[in-house]
This record gives sequence, structure tokens and C-alpha cells, in this order.
Amino acid sequence: MTDALLRTRGLGRSFGRLEVLSGLDLTVRAGEVLGVIGPNGAGKSTLLSLLGGSIPPSAGTIDYDGEDVTRRSAQWRARRGIATSYQIPRPFLGMTVLENLLVSARYAGGLSRQDAEGAVWYALERTQLTPQADRVAGSLRLLDRKRLEVARALAGRPKLLLLDEVAGGLTEHELPPVIDAVRAVHEAGVTVVWIEHVVHALTAVATRMICLTYGKVLAEGSPQEVLASPEVRQIYLGIEPDLDEIAPDDGTADA
Ligand SMILES: Nc1ncnc2c1ncn2[C@@H]1O[C@H](COP(=O)(O)OP(=O)(O)O)[C@@H](O)[C@H]1O
Ligand SMILES: [Mg+2]
Repeated sequence: MTDALLRTRGLGRSFGRLEVLSGLDLTVRAGEVLGVIGPNGAGKSTLLSLLGGSIPPSAGTIDYDGEDVTRRSAQWRARRGIATSYQIPRPFLGMTVLENLLVSARYAGGLSRQDAEGAVWYALERTQLTPQADRVAGSLRLLDRKRLEVARALAGRPKLLLLDEVAGGLTEHELPPVIDAVRAVHEAGVTVVWIEHVVHALTAVATRMICLTYGKVLAEGSPQEVLASPEVRQIYLGIEPDLDEIAPDDGTADA
């Protein structure tokens, strides 16, 4: 058998007449960082909402950790270890960073008071937010709000972390801390599905990649394979510089 932590079969979702995803068979292997790319409107965020349980599918099933969780609520899934970081951060703006993380650990993660405390410090450390622990979330700059979004998900000690564009809107120079945070999470043994528009942020950490278009998987493989595929290149003309960056150095670069 495979080491699948999560598997979808024939997963579909429509909004009215708009079929956003259909017939999606996706496997997330335990311990991997699965990068998901695809143009705007491809259905990436919808996929994440389906996996996290915040919306139900129109068709298909989702198995997680050996169980069919298709009909399970987002809260139930969170308590079983599926945590979601949203494209638009959703902190409690009037609470401090620490308080936000405590709420996630206790209520989303279902941890005891004692376990929650440990999990919160773990999340702060992994995301390098410890110096901001007492800051009110509403006063954070974008980079720290993105870090808080990852930390919030981590505070519940998840098995599976779902990230939606956590690098979006950051400057080049703000990317490394976010990439480092995801890498640290992965190294701690958490399985990650990371949807990202900033492709080179993904290639730094992803162990496997898929490209979604019109709700279907267009390409799947190592990040290098996916980004080199002609179909993907055609959609992503804008990523050519990234492709050069990840190409092996053959020593012919300008001296
Ligand atoms: N709640 C919703 N109601 C109606 N249409 C939606 C809803 N959520 C997403 N869509 C539509 O589904 C398509 C895919 O959206 P989304 O999953 O957000 O794409 P992506 O994250 O890949 O940009 C878009 O056309 C979007 O307008
Ligand atoms: Mg999206």
C-alpha cells in the first residue's frame, strides 16, 4: 500500500452552473510538501476549502488518515489534525499574537490548556514570531500577518497543513522567512499542501508539484518536471525566469 495521508476520488465542486473542480483524484503522501500551482480561477482555493471541510463537495470522496471524512465538518477535521491557512488571513485583530495562537490551539486544535501552551511556543518559534507575541494582530505588517496565519495553523499541532498563497503580496526580500517557516514545519514531520502563485517560493520547499487548470490536474511530478512541461510553460509564460533559476548550473553563466 501507499503511504497516502489523504486521497480524493472523483472530487468535484460546482457553484451553481459553474463546475470549478471535477473528477479530481489526488493523493497527498505522508511527509511530503505538495506544491499546487495553476492560473487564477483554476480552483486551487476551492480545493483547499474542500480538503479542510469548510465547503462540501458536489461529488466524490475524501479519505484522510484511513477514514472517509467527506461528510465531516471543518471543526472535526481540525481536531484530527488538518489545519488551514487562508489566502486572506483571518486573525482576531483585537487580540495579541499569543492570544490568537492560544485560541487556535485550544479551540481549533482541541488541545488541553497545558498542551496548548507548548504548541503555541512551538508555533511562535517555527515562524520566528516570538518577538511579536504581545503585539495586537491588527497592528502587524503584512509579512507578520502571513507568519501569524501559518503559526495559527501550526498551533493546533496538525498532521496536515494546508497553505493558500502565504507568500502572496510579499516582497522578494520578505519571502525567505516564510519559506523557512514552511521548511521548518516540514522538517518537524508535518505534511504540507501549499498552493502558491509565487512559483520560486514553492520550488524551494516542494517535494512534489501539481498544476491545476480548469479544475483538472494538467501536470504532476517533481517541481522541475512540472515546470518544464510544455503545457505548463504555455500557461505560465511569466515563470520563465524562475525556470532558469532552478536549472542546474552548468558553469556557463557569464564570468
Ligand atoms: N463561493 C463561491 N461562489 C461562487 N463562485 C465561486 C465561489 N468560490 C469560488 N468561485 C469561483 O470558482 C472559480 C475558482 O475559484 P478559486 O478556487 O478561488 O480559484 P483559484 O484559487 O485557483 O484562483 C472562480 O471562477 C471563482 O469565481
Ligand atoms: Mg485562490
